[in-house]
Amino acid sequence: MSDAFDLLIQNARVIDGTGAPRFRADIGIQGDRITGIGNLNGRKATRVIDATRLVAAPGFIDAHTHDDRLLLSDPAMAPKVSQGVTTVVTGNCGISLACSPSRSAAIPPLDLLDADGGWFRYADFDQYRRAFDEAPAATNAACLIGHTTLRAATMDSLDRPATAAETGRMRDMAEKALAAGAIGISSGTAYAPASAAPTEELIEVCRPMSQLGGLYVTHMRNEDAGIVDAMEETFRIGRELGVPVVISHHKCVGKSNHGRSSETLALIERNLASQDIGLDCYPYIASSTVMQAGRAKQSNRVLVTWSKPHPELSGKTLSDAARALGVSEDEAVERLKPAGAIYFMMDEADVQRILAYAHTMVGSDGLPHDAVPHPRLWGTFPRVLGHYARDLGLFPLETAVHKMTGLTAARFGLTDRGVLRAGAYADLTLFDAETVIDAADFDHPAQPARGIHTVIVNGTPVWADNASTGARPGRVLLRSTAG
Ligand code: ZN
Ligand code: CU
Repeated sequence: MSDAFDLLIQNARVIDGTGAPRFRADIGIQGDRITGIGNLNGRKATRVIDATRLVAAPGFIDAHTHDDRLLLSDPAMAPKVSQGVTTVVTGNCGISLACSPSRSAAIPPLDLLDADGGWFRYADFDQYRRAFDEAPAATNAACLIGHTTLRAATMDSLDRPATAAETGRMRDMAEKALAAGAIGISSGTAYAPASAAPTEELIEVCRPMSQLGGLYVTHMRNEDAGIVDAMEETFRIGRELGVPVVISHHKCVGKSNHGRSSETLALIERNLASQDIGLDCYPYIASSTVMQAGRAKQSNRVLVTWSKPHPELSGKTLSDAARALGVSEDEAVERLKPAGAIYFMMDEADVQRILAYAHTMVGSDGLPHDAVPHPRLWGTFPRVLGHYARDLGLFPLETAVHKMTGLTAARFGLTDRGVLRAGAYADLTLFDAETVIDAADFDHPAQPARGIHTVIVNGTPVWADNASTGARPGRVLLRSTAG
């Protein structure tokens, strides 16, 4: 190999993803790896980027996504690469495209990925992976298998616990997927098709992880009054299987639960002494998922994100939609379904407390197929960097970057990702620390962020000059068993 770099990033302020203070350095890339960091003056390079005014960070890892289909249907991944994201963790909240032999899976909340169901066509994880490899996306993907998807694939009715035979079929599918490179199993027991699953069913379906490794990642049964019980259930599943757990989009919903993050974070802290626990969080006081009457009642304000029977009401408030339909809000919820919504139901102090907690990773939970999506889809990472770290001073920029890179890679066992050092994969984001900020808001949610300069995946730029480059160097990442 010649000693010339393919790409040389000169004079950057390097924030390396470990949480360590920034330092000035050049970064040299050969092929898909970083091969030099330091003073690389005088070294030859095919291409040079002057980063004098920029921060160079590891590419951001979106710890919580629903990008299973976006990776295949819109592989430029603009909502993500425009924020500096280079890897997405897919299959969250019990919802994954694989393994789903049935095409009739368009039941809520699986319909968040595809309201028509045609994308539920990957009988096993290997097929999904092959589809990705044949037409790669701009970003990398690390994939969870959804328990709700497994239920839909194996059970004829979902309003009951799985039988022993059904549980066995789900367990076999999970085992095969883990062996083929899935990084863990997610659940979404908050949602009707999985809420009928008792703890024992979850443990049995996840059993192969005790041998093969992997994480149990959960949108817990309850995030309001019963949140502590739901956390205890999560911890029990992790202990019985001997695997790490991740609490998805940790939050305390409903007015009467505001402020309880002090209690929930203390509970996590206590249990950390005896087991491995992680969590992710998105930086907004509004949540978003399928349209549900209960959630709408708990919210100060509801926005319609999509509706199959009434697409024209996307983007409207629920009260405006009810007025347009000439019915009550309760009735409007039913008439709009199948539909999605944004729910203003959290407390800013809780969001900040959770975001600042040492073990909290940043995850967007963006819903890429909504007609008028929650702005977290396009705004999460620049909002943490610009709004929470720089403008509010909630934590140093180095901490913000760690929460979206090194912490996340370590949590999910993604080897040589999430840190900038010689030998690591060349996933990088160059951004302007003074100007980086989210531009997406609830009125205009599909806006690329400001201040993201260049985004590099496996050594190849995928975003530059505020546009996709067209390159698609992404890969499906496997979990390292060493972690
Ligand atoms: Zn969720
Ligand atoms: Cu989610």
